[in-house]
Amino acid sequence: MDLSITHPADFHVHLRQGALSELVTPHVRKGGFCTAYVMPNLKPPITTTDQALVYKATLEAIEPNVQFLMTLYLSPELTPDEIRKAKNAGIVGVKSYPRGVTTNSDGGIESYETYYPVFEVMQEVDLVLNLHGEIPSNSNIHILNAEPSFLPHLHKIHSTFPRLRIVLEHATTRAAIEAVKACGDTVACTITVHHLELTVDDWAGQSWNFCKPVAKYPDDRQALRDIVKEGHPRFFLGSDSAPHPPRNKSTSTPSCGCAAGIYTSPILLPLTAHILESFGALDRLEGFVSTFGRDFYKVPANASKVVLKRGVNGATFLIPEGGYTLKDESVVPFWAGKQINWTISK
Ligand code: NCD
Ligand code: ZN
Repeated sequence: MDLSITHPADFHVHLRQGALSELVTPHVRKGGFCTAYVMPNLKPPITTTDQALVYKATLEAIEPNVQFLMTLYLSPELTPDEIRKAKNAGIVGVKSYPRGVTTNSDGGIESYETYYPVFEVMQEVDLVLNLHGEIPSNSNIHILNAEPSFLPHLHKIHSTFPRLRIVLEHATTRAAIEAVKACGDTVACTITVHHLELTVDDWAGQSWNFCKPVAKYPDDRQALRDIVKEGHPRFFLGSDSAPHPPRNKSTSTPSCGCAAGIYTSPILLPLTAHILESFGALDRLEGFVSTFGRDFYKVPANASKVVLKRGVNGATFLIPEGGYTLKDESVVPFWAGKQINWTISK
């Protein structure tokens, strides 16, 4: 069986910098995607239009056949004037990281009200606000309730700026799905493919399944699956594919934590087909990976198609156990060593 999908777009991906970027950027296409919405959490973060344009040119030099949509990192440096400049230069969105909740978020924000003048201009010029929806841990907040505790901020920003397009990134809870559903048409939500598969039991003790936000309870996963199965147009794929060197993922040193991030880019479309099929949502694949996100972002598809092939007579395809290597860099994908039912037709 073949499935032909129009111009798939990954609306949340980390392409890094330097040698790691050379390794992972071509994997967008390898995984079946032609458009990549690029996260700005580099070291240092991408906070200006000029930096974003240099980064875009670097990515295009590595992989000329992908359309890169660029974002800025919300920080005090970001002024209303810079927002206008960004819009004119074709930057698509601004990403907000609460301080300290995830990889490279030390420069993240502490209060949303501070940024209302920036949001005002974003609303006016129609730049998208991408929210990492977690509250930093404190005496009452921890990684399992960090996302539900963030949702009042989403509602407040949405009611203050009803025409501002907002994306709640990588939702992991039933509460987040319901919150986005309850908002108007200007609020959408990305869902990763790994959160359609994992629950807490899968990452406790398995560092390769650890990412932020962490996967939650089976009932939360059910809510993610149900909204995909329903084909709700404001819920679409953002892989949050986040590569880390293996030495940062699997540490045996007690004082070192494990880096947060799951890597899915090189296998993304076949993996998404496999997982959607596993819960009866294969007929929603094209909407989820292409149409819905494009419609929300107003980024039209071109005529290009990617063809997926299902193994016949029980044949399956191996996700490389040893991962991928270029020079001194290597990365290990989600489900390394597992067999899946789909591959990209050459
Ligand atoms: C991301 C990364 O590694 O850059 N990690 C993650 O666990 N998702 C950062 C992020 O998007 O939160
Ligand atoms: Zn991310």
